[in-house]
Amino acid sequence: MPHAIAGETLFLDVAIIGAGWYGLKAASTLLKLAPNTTLAIFDKYDSVGGAWCRDRIYPNLVAQVEFGYFNYPSTPMPQDGKPGNNLVSGDMICRYLEQFAEDNDLKRLIRFNSWVSNIERNRRGCGWVLTVNSRRVEAAKLICATGVTTQTNAPGFTVPEDSIPVKHVVDLAKAVPSFSDAANKLDHFVLLGGAKSAYDAAYLLCSLGKKVTWVIREDGSGPMPIMPAKMLGRNTITMGTSRLMSNLSPSIMTTDSPIGAFFHRTWLGRWLTKAAWGYISTLADKAAGFGTTAAAHTEALRPEIKDNRPSHRSAFWCDSSLGLITMEDFWSTLRKGDIIIVRDNIDTTDSTGVKLRSGKRVDADYVIYATGWGDHFSFFSPELKEELGIPQYGDSTLKNTNKTLAKETVPGGTTADPWVLQDKAADELIAKKLPLLAAGPKDFNGWQRSAARQRAVKVRRWRLYNRMVPLADNSDDHSIAILGQIHTTQTPTIAEIQALWAAAYLLGDISLPSKPDVMREIAEWNAWTRKRYASVGERYPYALFDWVPYLDRLMRDLGLSTKRHNGVLADFFLPYGPHCYHGVVAEYMAVRKRENLGSRLGEVSSASSIPE
Ligand SMILES: Cc1cc2nc3c(=O)[nH]c(=O)nc-3n(C[C@H](O)[C@H](O)[C@H](O)COP(=O)(O)OP(=O)(O)OC[C@H]3O[C@@H](n4cnc5c(N)ncnc54)[C@H](O)[C@@H]3O)c2cc1C
Ligand SMILES: NC(=O)c1ccc[n+]([C@@H]2O[C@H](COP(=O)([O-])OP(=O)(O)OC[C@H]3O[C@@H](n4cnc5c(N)ncnc54)[C@H](OP(=O)(O)O)[C@@H]3O)[C@@H](O)[C@H]2O)c1
Repeated sequence: MPHAIAGETLFLDVAIIGAGWYGLKAASTLLKLAPNTTLAIFDKYDSVGGAWCRDRIYPNLVAQVEFGYFNYPSTPMPQDGKPGNNLVSGDMICRYLEQFAEDNDLKRLIRFNSWVSNIERNRRGCGWVLTVNSRRVEAAKLICATGVTTQTNAPGFTVPEDSIPVKHVVDLAKAVPSFSDAANKLDHFVLLGGAKSAYDAAYLLCSLGKKVTWVIREDGSGPMPIMPAKMLGRNTITMGTSRLMSNLSPSIMTTDSPIGAFFHRTWLGRWLTKAAWGYISTLADKAAGFGTTAAAHTEALRPEIKDNRPSHRSAFWCDSSLGLITMEDFWSTLRKGDIIIVRDNIDTTDSTGVKLRSGKRVDADYVIYATGWGDHFSFFSPELKEELGIPQYGDSTLKNTNKTLAKETVPGGTTADPWVLQDKAADELIAKKLPLLAAGPKDFNGWQRSAARQRAVKVRRWRLYNRMVPLADNSDDHSIAILGQIHTTQTPTIAEIQALWAAAYLLGDISLPSKPDVMREIAEWNAWTRKRYASVGERYPYALFDWVPYLDRLMRDLGLSTKRHNGVLADFFLPYGPHCYHGVVAEYMAVRKRENLGSRLGEVSSASSIPE
């Protein structure tokens, strides 16, 4: 049990921020590899689960993947409470994570209701100093597992004191019981946002029989493309987890293999890729009923693709993340619902409704905004963010922009940020190796916006090696890992392998490549993902269909087999999921034993060795 010594300061080997999928797995893995580690997990909530904690589960909430694909690889999920369509409900996930924390004896290590407000480097040596609820915590190593959906993004419309209720979707679970209470007279809801949380809220409100005015801003990415629930009779996301699908999503991680070269650099391979995506898009449009009179009032949800070439009219090129509709009655519920979809934004609310930017008024009883998420690294100063390679958020400005920008001389005698050259070389490489991406839509709103953003805020890109380790840690003391920032559909599996890689890295098992190689890896990933996934790829480390080759990289570093199915054909065509990585921590422990790593490493430096 971590304890306070030296007054109010708490000394730890490892501080973990976040008790969600990633933080819990990071703790249990570290304790398996180094059982004497003194660690604490800090979480602002009062229960485990993060986005899936008890207070955030509302009726109808289900994961976007089918049963068997949303559990840690070595810990199956019990079937009880499973809804129809072979899904995983929010309640099941919540119970599963609570049980995982219990079974792994993690609850005694979790400090609930603990907000980490500040983190800086420890000036008295290596490691970190955290401010947790105003208390000082010193930790030799730091794992950030804050997730991406705790802090909210407030859209900035005016809410006067006498306004109708206005709630971010993060508070939906707490608010839902009041919706059905007739005494509250909550009939007409205005919903803002065009991505997955908004779709889920629209479905929930229509299921409750509410009238909904759904507002999607005009100048953004537009409504999210929604994959059909099933493809060739199987859950679409499951179908998307095979190596075949990874190859149909041109990626810098697969392009050097013979199969990748076929798909990405031959005319036939590119034709097959486009045909597959055309088929998926047709299925998606069919499921939504777009173009039919029955779906006339949901037609506005047709994703925007601002390119007139027929070959580019595909969900492949959408400028927003992709969602999967798991509830079979999703579209029929919306079509039957009392729902109006408008492209506009909210200007202000008042005591009887909402005024839109266009000047129109909507009489309403309640506003729900699903406008995304805020700064999950607000505990780092802008300067430290820049040093670590974490993008600035909103209007953050550096006290001295030049202070931490490394400079180097480029041919011609001018000085430049070294990333400028790296990014340019990476862009050229992507254009050469992935011609399909190079020939992407030209008049894409999001891409134009992204390009402008890139020029304005170059330093804001993610600069994390393997999406986890800051470059600044390279010659340092292996003291920080940032987990869970990669966007995929397979959170629990990625959590397990990232946690294992991070534990091995923090313990010193894994050395990073040379600095130029680390920079190249980072620049190439960024160049690829912002071409592949347009503005979401520009904003986040995005790898929706590419997580298997991403995990291959981590598995290789750990000395573990990347081929997780028996036989070449099975490995190419069968879905990848948690079952493929069953026992992976034990496999790695065997590697450590064989290579005698344990005796070389020992464990994380003991708390008492940290000087006062
Ligand atoms: C409604 C919803 C549905 C989703 N469905 C899917 C899905 O189907 N598939 C999928 O792959 N992903 C899904 N996601 C994405 C989701 O982010 C992941 O499923 C998963 O929760 C990520 O786990 P995590 O541990 O990274 O973060 P989280 O679950 O968000 O946990 C992070 C924890 O860190 C804590 N924290 C953050 N900052 C601080 C701080 N400064 N101080 C103290 N504590 C802090 C938070 O309180 C939180 O408990 C969904 C997200 C939402 C909101
Ligand atoms: N059931 C599920 O599985 C489930 C449910 C919910 C969420 N999730 C996951 O959680 C993550 C976050 O999804 P999310 O939908 O909550 O957030 P998100 O993907 O960040 O989407 C935010 C939405 O709000 C809009 N928006 C942002 N700022 C705005 C503003 N100022 N005014 C008006 N609109 C604004 C965005 O429009 P622009 O695109 O134009 O910027 C976008 O449509 C995703 O990974 C998602 O898959 C999963």
